[in-house]
Amino acid sequence: MKILVTGGLGFIGSHTVVELQNEGYEVVIIDNLSNSSVEVLDGITAITGTKPYFEKLDLKIKGDVQSFFKKHNDIAGVIHFAASKAVGESVNNPLMYYENNINTLVYVLQEMKQLNSQNFIFSSSCTVYGQADELPITENAPVKLAESPYGNTKQIGEEIIKDTCKVNKNFNSIALRYFNPIGAHPSTKIGELPIGVPQNLVPFITQTAIGMREQLLVFGGDYPTRDGTCIRDYIHVVDLAKAHVVALQRLLSGKNNSNFEFFNLGTGKGSSVLEAIKSFESVWGKKLNYKVVGRRSGDVISAYADTNKVNNVLGWKTKLTLDDAMESAWKWEQKIRNK
Ligand code: UD1
Repeated sequence: MKILVTGGLGFIGSHTVVELQNEGYEVVIIDNLSNSSVEVLDGITAITGTKPYFEKLDLKIKGDVQSFFKKHNDIAGVIHFAASKAVGESVNNPLMYYENNINTLVYVLQEMKQLNSQNFIFSSSCTVYGQADELPITENAPVKLAESPYGNTKQIGEEIIKDTCKVNKNFNSIALRYFNPIGAHPSTKIGELPIGVPQNLVPFITQTAIGMREQLLVFGGDYPTRDGTCIRDYIHVVDLAKAHVVALQRLLSGKNNSNFEFFNLGTGKGSSVLEAIKSFESVWGKKLNYKVVGRRSGDVISAYADTNKVNNVLGWKTKLTLDDAMESAWKWEQKIRNK
């Protein structure tokens, strides 16, 4: 069965391609290489023994999307990762984010209409919940006003899909709301490749440990949490990738309860920034140079998933721990710097 993975050379996309190929799916990747490298294909091939079909394609160019779907009219499912994801950048350049994340989604959905099998998995985010009033966060928690254009594109994306599902009963979709994906493939053949100074916690930790950054700044030590730092639900990217295969199989086998469903992808366990650092230190065996400084604007205090729905309805749960994720992230950092 042929599955299209947009953004399939990115961090989460590449790990998902590996899991799809391990399950025997034929994968077609499109990626514009704006935040990824074509070498990722070699990593995927080394892990799975199969080189996926790859086309460099920019989904912003509607004509190219049309020609692509004409050529590949036998696609059985689409997993849509292609999007920009830097919160700060989205605040400075909102129109770029609306073009990259919304126009492209619309073009893909328009072309999917001609497929016999219209199954669509959407990369959403726990950012849609903002600071939830109740923890852990269930899928019934209200969607809050977005804090950034990036967050808004995830909310609008879900709305666009919901509206599409209402008028097209042949179209089936699952939106997956990720908590904080971290780590790398244990083979160290694929992982995260942040460009410039990382904004996310774990790449900043590993770059500090390897000596590229002098010190990690912990943003905020005065939050109303157990140790004063923010709480997040860090999920190993391999667990996250496997959830996409399970969600796709649900749609392909027609087991979905409605044609638009959404699930939280998290571990259900919240960890503070200091606990995340401790976990890293335990796999590294050394003390990390860090300093607690003022808060970063836009950060929510605490966010972790209620996993009952995803465990019971989707039938998926995480297997890997925070230490496993830190260990894989550290191995990956060492590998890419020693190249
Ligand atoms: C961020 C985005 C979120 C996006 C997600 C995945 C913001 C406000 N949110 O989530 O919308 O879906 O990335 O790309 O950017 N931290 C430090 N020092 C650092 C970096 C981070 O203390 O140098 C802290 C943060 O304050 C936060 C935690 O580590 O408490 C996790 O931060 P990060 O990895 O950036 O993820 P989120 O902010 O949760």
